[in-house]
Amino acid sequence: MNASAPTPCVVDLTSVDTHEVRMAVLRKGTPSRDPCYAQDDLPDTRHLGVRIADRLVATSTWLPAPWPHDTAAPAVQLRGMAVLDDVQGLGVGRLLLDAGVSRARAHGARYVWARARDSAIGFYERAGFAVVGDVFVDDATGLDHHLVVLTLND
Ligand SMILES: CC(C)(COP(=O)(O)OP(=O)(O)OC[C@H]1O[C@@H](n2cnc3c(N)ncnc32)[C@H](O)[C@@H]1OP(=O)(O)O)[C@@H](O)C(=O)NCCC(=O)NCCS
Repeated sequence: MNASAPTPCVVDLTSVDTHEVRMAVLRKGTPSRDPCYAQDDLPDTRHLGVRIADRLVATSTWLPAPWPHDTAAPAVQLRGMAVLDDVQGLGVGRLLLDAGVSRARAHGARYVWARARDSAIGFYERAGFAVVGDVFVDDATGLDHHLVVLTLND
C-alpha cells in the first residue's frame, strides 16, 4: 500500500454482504453461479471482510468445524477467502487471514483449516499453514484442492 492510500479495515459482515466478492473472485470461470455455502447462516458462523474507504474488497467465512485429522479438538474452518482481483498482492488477504486466525485463537481453537485451491496454497504456506493429504477436486469449482491447516499453540 502506498502511504497516501486509505487504510484497509477489517469489518464484520453478513452472509449476503459476501456474495458480490465471492461471485467476482471465487465463481469466476467456474461452473457454479451460486455464491452461498450451506453453513453461511448457522449461529456460530462469522463473516469477515476488508474495506478500503467505502469499498468492500475482500471477504472470508469462519465456522466451527472439526479438523478431519483430529476431530476431538476445537477447530475453525475458513471458507470463501477472496480478494478482488485489482487489490490482490497488496497484503489485504494476509490482513484478513491474520484477523480471523486471531479470533479463532481467542475462542480456543486448536486448528484453523481450509480446503485450499492449489493456486492459493502458497498464500497459506506463507502464513504458516501446512498442506495435508492428497489432491481432491472441489465439486463447485472443478479445481484441484488440498487441505491446509494451521496449528495454534498455547
Ligand atoms: C489467495 C488470495 C486470498 C491472497 O490474498 P492477497 O491479498 O492477494 O495476498 P497477500 O497480498 O496478502 O499475500 C500475502 C503473502 O502470500 C503470498 N501469496 C499471495 N497469493 C499467493 C498465491 N496465490 N500463491 C503463492 N503465494 C501467494 C504473497 O506473495 C505474500 O507473500 P509475502 O508474505 O512473502 O509478502 C487472493 O489472491 C485471492 O482471492 N485469490 C483468488 C481466490 C482464491 O484463490 N482464494 C483462496 C481460495 S482457497
